Amino acid sequence: MASIVKPKRNRRMAITVAILAGIGGFLFGYDTGVISGAILFINEEFGLSSVQQEVVISILLLFAGIGALIAGRITDRFGRRKVILWDALLFVLGAVILACAPGLPALIAGRIVVGLAIGVASMTVPLFVAELSPSTMRGLCVSMNQLLITIGIVAAYGVDFAFSTTPDGWRWMLGLAALPACCLFIGMLFLPETPRWLIEAGRIAEGRAVLQKMGYTVEERDDIIGQVQRHISEQREGFRGLWRPELRLPLIIGMGLALFQQITGINTIIYYAPTIFQMSGVGSASASILATVGVGVVNVLTTVVALLLLDRVGRKPLLIIGISGMIFGLLFVGLAWLLPHAALSVERLISLSLMVYIAGFAIGLGPIAWLIIAEIYPLKVRGVAMGLSTLVNWMSNFVVALTFLSLINLIGQTATFWSFALLSICSLLFVIKVVPETKGKSLEQLEAGWKR
Ligand code: BGC
Repeated sequence: MASIVKPKRNRRMAITVAILAGIGGFLFGYDTGVISGAILFINEEFGLSSVQQEVVISILLLFAGIGALIAGRITDRFGRRKVILWDALLFVLGAVILACAPGLPALIAGRIVVGLAIGVASMTVPLFVAELSPSTMRGLCVSMNQLLITIGIVAAYGVDFAFSTTPDGWRWMLGLAALPACCLFIGMLFLPETPRWLIEAGRIAEGRAVLQKMGYTVEERDDIIGQVQRHISEQREGFRGLWRPELRLPLIIGMGLALFQQITGINTIIYYAPTIFQMSGVGSASASILATVGVGVVNVLTTVVALLLLDRVGRKPLLIIGISGMIFGLLFVGLAWLLPHAALSVERLISLSLMVYIAGFAIGLGPIAWLIIAEIYPLKVRGVAMGLSTLVNWMSNFVVALTFLSLINLIGQTATFWSFALLSICSLLFVIKVVPETKGKSLEQLEAGWKR
C-alpha cells in the first residue's frame, strides 16, 4: 500500500494512530507489571497461601492467551477499531472489579477480565496500527506499542512504590488502570477503521474516505484499493484457512518469534527482578526495587533507540544484534553465580549483565517479534493467524513465569540462566535462517511474496 505514499503527508496521522491505540500497549505493560508490588499488600489483607498467590498472578497470563485467540476471530469479523473500543471497556471493568474486590474470588474474576483484555489488546493494537501506517514508517508506528508496554511497566513500578504506604494502596494500584483505559476508549472514538479491513468487507467508499483522510491522492487510492482487492478474491476461511501450504512458512516465522520472545526468559527479569537482585546479594529490599526500576528504564530507553532504527537499519540486523546481546548478558549472569559471592563486584556483574540482556531484548525480540507478527500474514487470515501467534506468546510466557523459581531450586541459577542462553542461541539461528527482512515493503508486497 504505502510504497506510493509521500511520508510527510500522513506522518502526523500515523503517529497519532500509533500513540492513541498504543494506550492498549501501556495497559498491557501496566497490568502485567503492577501485580508484583500489589501482591505483597493483597497477601497482607487476605492472607493468601502461596498457591493462591500463584493463581492470582498467573491466571492473567492464561486468559490473555484465550483473549488473543478470541480476538483473532472477532477482529476479522467486526473490524479492528470496534474490538479495541470494547476492549477498553473490558479494561475498565477489570480495574473496577479488582479495586473493589471483597475477597479472593472477586480478585481472581478481576484478573481473568483484565487478562482477556490484555490478550485482545496485545494482538489487535499492532494489527490496527500496521494496517493504518505507511510502509516507510510501519516499524516506528507498530513498535510504539512496545514502547508504551515498557513505559506501562515502569509506571506500574512507580505507582506500586507511590502507594506502598497508603492504606488499601493495592486497590489504587490495580484500580488506577481504569484511567488509561478510559483514555483508550475516548482516543479510539476519533480514529477510523483500517482501510484494508473496510475494503475487504466490501465497504469500498468508506475505505476510500479513510485513505483520503490519510492524505493519499485519487490515483493512489485507486491503486491501493486495487492491490487489496486482488489479494482478497477468495473467501475468508477462519482457522481452516491456516492449513494452506503458502501459509506454512509465515506461520512458522510468526509462532517461532512469539515463542522465542518468551522462552529466552524476558519475564523472569520483568516479573522477578527484585527476587533475582536479592538472590545476587543486593542488600536491602529497597535497593533491589531501585535496581528493578533501573532495568525498567533501560528497557524503555533502548526501545526508543529501536524505534528510531527499525525503518532504517531493518528488522533482521537489529534482531541479530539484540539476541547476541541477550546471549552475552545471560552467559555472564550465569557465570557470576559461580564466583565467590562475598565480593561486591559479583552483584555489579549480575546487575550489569542483566542490563545488557534487557537492552538486547529491547532492541530486538521485544519490539520486532510483535512487529513481524503484524506484518507477515495475508489479509484474509491476518486476524486468526495473529491470534494464534499471540496465543503461543502468552502460553509460553505462562509456562516460563510459572516454572522459573522451581527451575532455580532444581538446577540452580547458573544452569537456569545458561539454559535461557542456549535457547537464545537457538533463536539467533532461527532468525538468521528463517526470518525475512520486511523493512520498506507494503503488506501486500509481503503477501505476494509468500504466494511466489
Ligand atoms: C513482551 C512481554 C514483556 C515486555 C517487556 C513484550 O514485548 O511480550 O512479555 O513483558 O515486552 O518489555
